[in-house]
Amino acid sequence: MRNFVSVRDVTDIDALVKKALAFKADPYSAETLGKRKRVGCLFLNPSMRTRLSTQLAAQNLGMEVMVFNVGSEGWALEFEEEAIMSGSTVEHIKDAAPVFGKYFDILAIRTFPSLKNREDDYSELYIKQLIKYAGIPVVSLESSTLHPLQSFTDIISIQESLNEAPVIGRKPKIVLSWAPHIKPLPQCVANSFSQWITQWNKADFVITHPEDYELSEEFTLGATIMHDQKKALEGADFVYVKNWSTFKDYGKIYTNDPEWMLTQDSWSVTNNAKVMHCLPVRRNVELSDEILDGPMSIVTRQAGNRVWAAQTVLSEILTHG
Ligand code: CP
Repeated sequence: MRNFVSVRDVTDIDALVKKALAFKADPYSAETLGKRKRVGCLFLNPSMRTRLSTQLAAQNLGMEVMVFNVGSEGWALEFEEEAIMSGSTVEHIKDAAPVFGKYFDILAIRTFPSLKNREDDYSELYIKQLIKYAGIPVVSLESSTLHPLQSFTDIISIQESLNEAPVIGRKPKIVLSWAPHIKPLPQCVANSFSQWITQWNKADFVITHPEDYELSEEFTLGATIMHDQKKALEGADFVYVKNWSTFKDYGKIYTNDPEWMLTQDSWSVTNNAKVMHCLPVRRNVELSDEILDGPMSIVTRQAGNRVWAAQTVLSEILTHG
């Protein structure tokens, strides 16, 4: 693996999951792999889990980690080719990225979408320009359209639950359920989860959302789409709850119907489903307290597994990058 920006960089998801669970069982099994290697983590946007888990993962491999909050502490970066830089941007990525390439062995970057212009966001210009000019491997810490470390973590968490309580005689049913939110959020987590689950091809995968909240078909091909949440949740083994803003009429909130919040009542039609969310979560807007605080929630397990996902990706790049 040279870069890690989407599931397309992965040849064998199951092998990667196995490796992650081995790291979970023995975190220091490769503690010298990254000796005298440095990873630079560039944040243009806020983070808790991604930032801390990536640092822990690198340290477990013996790497040095430097975190640079570019968005709040660095020069404002320009990513457009041939830009006339007479506005607010101070340094072009063409000049900054090769410098990062001199300082680090691996670069990781978080770049959220603007949610203003779909074509711009879905072009993934920022991460593509970093890959083009840095000359070293690049890991996505969440880009404009995808969150691959989160999705890898999600599959690790699903597999771990299935190892403990296998679903016999059929594929597990996994439902991605839209939830209300007060702000327009990116489609990254939903796109990425859908892309990974369909590529994994080990589940009966259903996406449920209100009308007009369709995700890009680029990511949902192979999923069953339903607008009736109750029907979609029937018999589910896993329910992944997540808000996203509209894709077609880009970045809008069309509805905030509280009926879409996952509650004990709506959950009751599932097959005692494990409930997932990437966090941070708006309690009693996206998910009710009774769900988040109940035995069905595996959200803390998911967040904990972020370390093993990041450790696996870094170790793959250190070994084969
Ligand atoms: N799930 C996730 O990416 O969390 P952070 O935004 O806190 O990194």
